[in-house]
Amino acid sequence: MRAQLKSVTDLPSFRCDTLVIPVFKGEKLNHDGRSIDQASKRQISKLLAADEFGGKAGQVLALPLVSGTAASRIVLWGLGDKKKLNRQSWNKACDAIANSVTQLNGKHCAFISSIKLPKAVPGGWALQHLAARVTRSTYSYTATKPSKKANPAVVNKVSFINADATTANRQAIKQGVAIGKGINVARELGNLPGNYCTPKVLSAEARKLGRQHQAIKTTVLGEKQMEALGMGSLLSVGNGSDQESQLMIMNYQGGKKNQKPHVLVGKGITFDSGGISLKPGAKMDEMKFDMCGAASVFGTMNAIADMQLPLNVIGVVAAAENMPSGRATKPGDVVTSMAGKTIEVLNTDAEGRLVLCDALHYVKRFKPESVIDIATLTGAVIVALGHHATGLLSNDDDFAEELLQAGKDSADRAWHLPLWDDYQKQLDSQFADIANIGGPAAGTVTAGCFLSRFTEDLRWAHLDIAGTAWNQGGPKGASGRPVGLLCQYLMSLAGKAA
Ligand code: BES
Ligand code: MN
Ligand code: ZN
Repeated sequence: MRAQLKSVTDLPSFRCDTLVIPVFKGEKLNHDGRSIDQASKRQISKLLAADEFGGKAGQVLALPLVSGTAASRIVLWGLGDKKKLNRQSWNKACDAIANSVTQLNGKHCAFISSIKLPKAVPGGWALQHLAARVTRSTYSYTATKPSKKANPAVVNKVSFINADATTANRQAIKQGVAIGKGINVARELGNLPGNYCTPKVLSAEARKLGRQHQAIKTTVLGEKQMEALGMGSLLSVGNGSDQESQLMIMNYQGGKKNQKPHVLVGKGITFDSGGISLKPGAKMDEMKFDMCGAASVFGTMNAIADMQLPLNVIGVVAAAENMPSGRATKPGDVVTSMAGKTIEVLNTDAEGRLVLCDALHYVKRFKPESVIDIATLTGAVIVALGHHATGLLSNDDDFAEELLQAGKDSADRAWHLPLWDDYQKQLDSQFADIANIGGPAAGTVTAGCFLSRFTEDLRWAHLDIAGTAWNQGGPKGASGRPVGLLCQYLMSLAGKAA
């Protein structure tokens, strides 16, 4: 995707495939909109006057062959009530227009970007998110659909017409494209079926990222090396699988050598059958998405490398396949984690925390400034928050607050759940230091409590994305969340947020 700021004085003779005119409900067109209206002999204002287009938020009307204009088509884009516009509704409106223009024929899409937005939606931020949403919409899944060819006429160039030509705006647009691309990296990995996306395929992907980006160095550990490190908990998850478990470390050096890194740890269960505690059959196919935490780490690493953020960030992915077999871990088995704590595996379907605890202990060697793990960890988070908010737990309230803010700023929101000591005793075990489940009450919190036993000396947060990582009703597909939140957080740390 190429994206540019463009100043145009004679808009009617500007050549592009699609020209988008934003319209606020009940408001007049601005001067750029009016120039098109006048060139088309007031075709647009007639439509507005006849109530054919009211400018409701997310409303889109495509007008082909408008006379007097060089654009192949004009698209009216409703932004709703100007006073009500906020970051969340801006992103929704961006999704509506992005989904429409990427369905239309034509590679070059231009947006009139000279309109004044309310204070709640800063201009550079708005451009960034529009660029991200259009980039995001150019994705379609084709990997295992040979009959469905990728659309050759999909948008590959976006012009933002007459936005303030500032360095900040240019940077915002570049960042938006990088984030959109990162989101699509996460979606593609998430969507790949379990037989295409195994732990070894993920580690090949990690190596590829290292080759594609100068600033990223990748290391991969196989089962032998993890055994030598004592990662008995992580390894116990893959025992029943024919696929080798993998731990991958993608080290991005964008900051000074001595600057402490921020670490992202992704759950990469490439298929979660539940293991011996087998899941019911309905919707079990969706457990190919159980590596969406890992996918978000790949997407975020890709985006920050594209943005060349001046930070050090280490992306770690713990990948395994959770399967039943004669060699699989059984309920009641006790395994020993790298931290030395023994764990009673009361339910083999609570496997995410088993891979994460060893990965979280491992990253202490990097003396990180902060650690965030991202995981499709509990069905319980869907009961608590549905599909809108990611669950957030942390051992540091200030850190949690920063992540909540990044979620608001990127319209990729999270919600803070408690990690009080009161819940910890639900993890008591008769036969080990800790049990891997805490009973039916507060399942998301006790999963967080389990991880907190391995992160005591870290500035750590946990994002439970079981409800947000993929669309579960309607057309199924990975959402790419929370790449937006993670990028926003890292950009603001680097002082590069729009
Ligand atoms: N990957 C699942 C969580 C999940 C379930 C994500 C449904 C998305 C939709 C996780 O490994 C799991 O199975 N968790 C169990 C934990 C329980 C056994 C304590 C769960 O949520 O049922
Ligand atoms: Mn499970
Ligand atoms: Zn799982």
